[in-house]
Amino acid sequence: MNINSQRLTESLDALGRIGAYTDESSGLTGVRRLAFSQEDGEGRRHVVAEMKAAGLDVTIDRIGNVYARRAGRDASARPVMAGSHIDSVATAGRFDGCLGVLGALEVIKTLNDAKVTTRRPLIVAFFSEEEGARFGTDMLGSAVAVGRIPLERAYALTDRDGQAVRAELERIGFLGSADVKLAPPHAYVECHIEQGPMLRAADIDIGIVTGVQAICWHELVITGRSAHAGTTPMNLRADPGVAASRVQLALREMVRSGRFSDQLRATMGVTQFQPGLVNVVPNRVVASVDIRHPDDAVLVRAEAELIGLYAQIAIEEKVTLTHRQSARTPDIGFAPKVEELVASSAAKRGFKAQRIVSGAGHDCQELSKLCPAGMVFVPGEYDGISHNPREFSTPKQCADGVNVLLDVLTALAEEQGP
Ligand code: HGY
Ligand code: MN
Ligand code: MN
Repeated sequence: MNINSQRLTESLDALGRIGAYTDESSGLTGVRRLAFSQEDGEGRRHVVAEMKAAGLDVTIDRIGNVYARRAGRDASARPVMAGSHIDSVATAGRFDGCLGVLGALEVIKTLNDAKVTTRRPLIVAFFSEEEGARFGTDMLGSAVAVGRIPLERAYALTDRDGQAVRAELERIGFLGSADVKLAPPHAYVECHIEQGPMLRAADIDIGIVTGVQAICWHELVITGRSAHAGTTPMNLRADPGVAASRVQLALREMVRSGRFSDQLRATMGVTQFQPGLVNVVPNRVVASVDIRHPDDAVLVRAEAELIGLYAQIAIEEKVTLTHRQSARTPDIGFAPKVEELVASSAAKRGFKAQRIVSGAGHDCQELSKLCPAGMVFVPGEYDGISHNPREFSTPKQCADGVNVLLDVLTALAEEQGP
């Protein structure tokens, strides 16, 4: 059995048109569907309509996670779940997350066409605010579903304009009523683009994802004193902008030093200067730090060194610097059983496959706390660039991944047991 590649491509393109924007620097069409924005609401309604058209029974929970269920031969058997996210960063492509949701939906359509009913029910899911780009912590919806983040804490999160999660969910009409506590599925599988260069560079068709690296996010608030840019001598300044720049350079030194192997990744994605005027020394800077490493113990060392640097920089620049750990997930290993199913499907289909650790966080790492879970990666063109409108995987790359997803889901859905 094979999925319908043309139908998959058309569904990716259709969803990609929702929240589409033209990237000024490249002229490319990107996607911008920040969590619980108007565009996210429109994307959600579009996918829910697709789910219903495929005959699925749709449930929305209190954090806006959407679960669409296909009956199995044995209604009492635990379902097999597949999904991902459809919220995006502000400079996204049309594949990140969407391939996992629309790919799972394509599997359903393929089974419908073939009039195949699996023993276990199947559920296609998309989780809220996987990116964490708006409300500051990633995998929010799936973390609530597995109990890592309490619902009330999630509701209280606000974006940089002070808009809160609950109110925004209500505004877009996705404040569901179903309990957020997810009953453990039999298994969970997610198809996703690699978002990096490794598979394409090695001419590999399928990534057998063994797990996700450890992730740590800090939100920094650095306070100094606004002053005249022309008359204030440098030694009389308390400039949080200089402090933020020193943190950014410290991150690069930590990566280049080799003290944390050559696998530490560090990014300062957010810097907001206030008052942000050309002739005023800033009085406040909000900045973000994202550090990641495949080994959690090494990331712990890196974070400790960084916190020590914050204190030293604050004293030397005569500013106050506070940090809040806004996201923190350890390195996670996926279920060998799912890995083996991915590997055997790829082998059976004649695809070149390779094991790989995910550099990006995914909902799968949360679901892996509830059940055996695993991922199928597809390569991307242009060095697998992602979180960029140039993000692109060919129709064949996408179809190969979703055909493997089809095999893995149908194998899991025929497994005996509760
Ligand atoms: O940040 C991540 O790794 C993912 O894109 N949320
Ligand atoms: Mn993603
Ligand atoms: Mn992403």
